[in-house]
Amino acid sequence: MRSNISFVLSLWTAAACAVSIGEIQGSSYQSPLVGQFVDDVRGVVVAKDKYGLWIVGEPSDDPRVSNGLRVYGVNIGRSVNPGDLISVSGRVAEYRARYRPNDLLLTELERPTNIHVLSSGHAIEPVVLGKDRIPPIAPLSAFDMGIDGWLSVPNNVTLLEAENRTLEPEDYGLDFWESLEGRLVTIEDPTALNFPDMYGSFWVHGGWPVSGKNARGGLSLMLGSDGKPVAHSEAILIGKSIDGTKNPRTMVGMNLSSITGVLAYQFGFYSILPLTAPEVVSVPDDEPQPAPISLSDDPCQLTIGDYNVENMTPRSHHIPKIADHIANYLHSPDIMFVQEISDDSGAADNGVVSANKTLTALVKAIAHASEGVKYEFVNIPPVDNMDGGKPGSNIRVAYLWRPEKVALVPGSPIGNATTSTQVIKDSSGRLSLSLNPGRIEPSSLAWEETRKSLAAAWQTVAGDRFYTINVHFSSKRDSSSAHGDARPPVNGHSDRRALQVNVTANFVNSILALDANASIVAAGDMNEFAETRSVFSAFDGVLYNINEVAGVEPVERYTYVYEQHMQEIDQVFISAGVARKGAEVEHIHVNTWAASLGERASDHDPTIARVRVCDGFNGVFSVTTTPTPPDPLSIYSSCSRWLACTDTLQTSQQLKHVHV
Ligand SMILES: *[C@@H]1O[C@H](CO)[C@@H](O)[C@H](O)[C@H]1NC(C)=O
Ligand SMILES: *[C@@H]1O[C@H](CO)[C@@H](O)[C@H](O)[C@H]1NC(C)=O
Ligand SMILES: *[C@@H]1O[C@H](CO)[C@@H](O)[C@H](O)[C@H]1NC(C)=O
Ligand SMILES: *[C@@H]1O[C@H](CO)[C@@H](O)[C@H](O)[C@H]1NC(C)=O
Ligand SMILES: *[C@@H]1O[C@H](CO)[C@@H](O)[C@H](O)[C@H]1NC(C)=O
Ligand SMILES: *[C@@H]1O[C@H](CO)[C@@H](O)[C@H](O)[C@H]1NC(C)=O
Ligand SMILES: *[C@@H]1O[C@H](CO)[C@@H](O)[C@H](O)[C@H]1NC(C)=O
Repeated sequence: MRSNISFVLSLWTAAACAVSIGEIQGSSYQSPLVGQFVDDVRGVVVAKDKYGLWIVGEPSDDPRVSNGLRVYGVNIGRSVNPGDLISVSGRVAEYRARYRPNDLLLTELERPTNIHVLSSGHAIEPVVLGKDRIPPIAPLSAFDMGIDGWLSVPNNVTLLEAENRTLEPEDYGLDFWESLEGRLVTIEDPTALNFPDMYGSFWVHGGWPVSGKNARGGLSLMLGSDGKPVAHSEAILIGKSIDGTKNPRTMVGMNLSSITGVLAYQFGFYSILPLTAPEVVSVPDDEPQPAPISLSDDPCQLTIGDYNVENMTPRSHHIPKIADHIANYLHSPDIMFVQEISDDSGAADNGVVSANKTLTALVKAIAHASEGVKYEFVNIPPVDNMDGGKPGSNIRVAYLWRPEKVALVPGSPIGNATTSTQVIKDSSGRLSLSLNPGRIEPSSLAWEETRKSLAAAWQTVAGDRFYTINVHFSSKRDSSSAHGDARPPVNGHSDRRALQVNVTANFVNSILALDANASIVAAGDMNEFAETRSVFSAFDGVLYNINEVAGVEPVERYTYVYEQHMQEIDQVFISAGVARKGAEVEHIHVNTWAASLGERASDHDPTIARVRVCDGFNGVFSVTTTPTPPDPLSIYSSCSRWLACTDTLQTSQQLKHVHV
């Protein structure tokens, strides 16, 4: 028969000189007893693995103080079993792997000796998360308090462990999880928030309040009620099970059976190691639907698609799927912005830079999938291996377009890899680009070792001109864990992206200086959340996020899923001249909603937007005053569908009913 906890309690205090686990854990990040040898530490074994035990001792009344502990010792679990109340001596240590210097420290008892089983058959009641303790919707740490929260710059100002603050579990997410370190916890009714990572780990939340919950069941990165980006501190990573059972292959929104496990810190994250792997309870049954946005016969109304097609080569197996998405989910937009078009020889590092075969293969596949839509394409091959990405692949951005609807403004040659295009007045006195399409400041340091942006001047069949910029900003490679020591965490290459936004904004300004009403669309894989406002600040008052203009609910703005966040890193920005006329946009979740990683065509979702690009069109809404771009708010009698309504959360909730 298994004893209950009160029976066990009488055993904690048997020895006068004993040190409790709570005294070892203390109420701050690091143990007050670190480096000391302690005797007769008592706890019930809740789990064991090859490298040691997890034990739980006398409960503490102080929510900052954990009563769980890792006992580190290879094979020490041989002579003890879960349910055994043991006494153990050893040295208190704060552990992090030498090769992971940014990890937080795990409090451990090292070099265990004198392990005695005092009695057996004890059951430890897990901490039921959401009931006994509620994960806070909060900043991750006390050092993530800048204007952009955990995404604030400068990064890595403070090292969390060195500060060794007293935990404030109700106010900071990492403090909350730290206060449970080593304890046995239960998540009832967990919902998966991502596909599994390469180790089979996946993120969940349980039945407690969460931020950014979207219709699919994932958690979207957005601004919280404090106006700062939410950090999803209330989500937790589920690691490998202790009994060796296999975790399910999760997808976003999948419901699982309850998880009971030990709260550990490993590989950069607080993680629950389940005693046994959970089972799948239910999976979302909604399929991604084709966009509710269709092509228009109006020559001024264009659809624009955007898709990062993930290292596409002429032989990529995913070409038919991508083509199906473009043809049948985006309805073959008038212009497609694509990113990650590899050269014709793929990853072979052989000097080939042309992507004509890759683009021809894509265009053919779309013609097939759409029963006849014929795209033209254009791109500028990089100088071999100068634009980053997989070595030899020479990935670049490209445009596809439907010649019956739009054409590149003629009269200017296509640019090359190293020359910048500029706004010019052509022989008819109208605006165009000196190279069309052409790269924007390709030799600026902002673009070193990364993909260059491609600007193009277009005309509709009615003769109206407009401009596009297709971008693929530097990736977040070299970011540090959001559960790591560096606070705020390192947002890899955000300084680069800020420069890239700046160069892009300067180029847009050079057009607006000559035509304040110019129709400009800048879109692509920006590798950054709109909520990282420091990166996008150069766009302020220059370009407008189309989601704001269209009034898309903030929780439904996502094109990517990473760790616990669904996030919009593929974005469409439009000039005031376009925004004034209203816009529609949809992110089509063909990939973030996939049933497994393998079923995705790309790691990004595609996007489709519908905009009006002609001059002199006075807008679909009543214009009460003449706008002075870029402050188009004044044309609306109230704060409607417009980004100047700074409280985006509230605004789009108010406005969802007027979404057209
Ligand atoms: C961390 O804080 C605790 C409690 O104040 C203190 O006992 C301990 O010495 C500190 N450790 C370090 C390394 O600062
Ligand atoms: C953060 O800065 C410290 C120096 O204060 C440095 O040692 C550490 O490597 C940095 N961490 C990251 C993740 O860049
Ligand atoms: C998962 O559980 C939540 C909460 O009970 C429920 O709202 C949601 O519909 C469930 N999802 C699926 C796919 O069954
Ligand atoms: C790729 O296509 C362009 C436009 O049709 C052409 O000018 C160029 O020579 C082609 N490049 C190669 C390597 O075939
Ligand atoms: C691009 O064109 C410029 C001007 O014609 C020329 O000087 C430069 O060498 C060209 N660059 C490449 C990579 O072909
Ligand atoms: C870009 O950066 C430069 C130099 O820091 C600054 O002067 C300029 O105002 C910035 N441009 C924009 C559009 O923010
Ligand atoms: C810009 O567009 C508005 C509204 O269509 C118009 O009233 C205004 O005259 C235009 N301004 C310029 C500089 O063309």
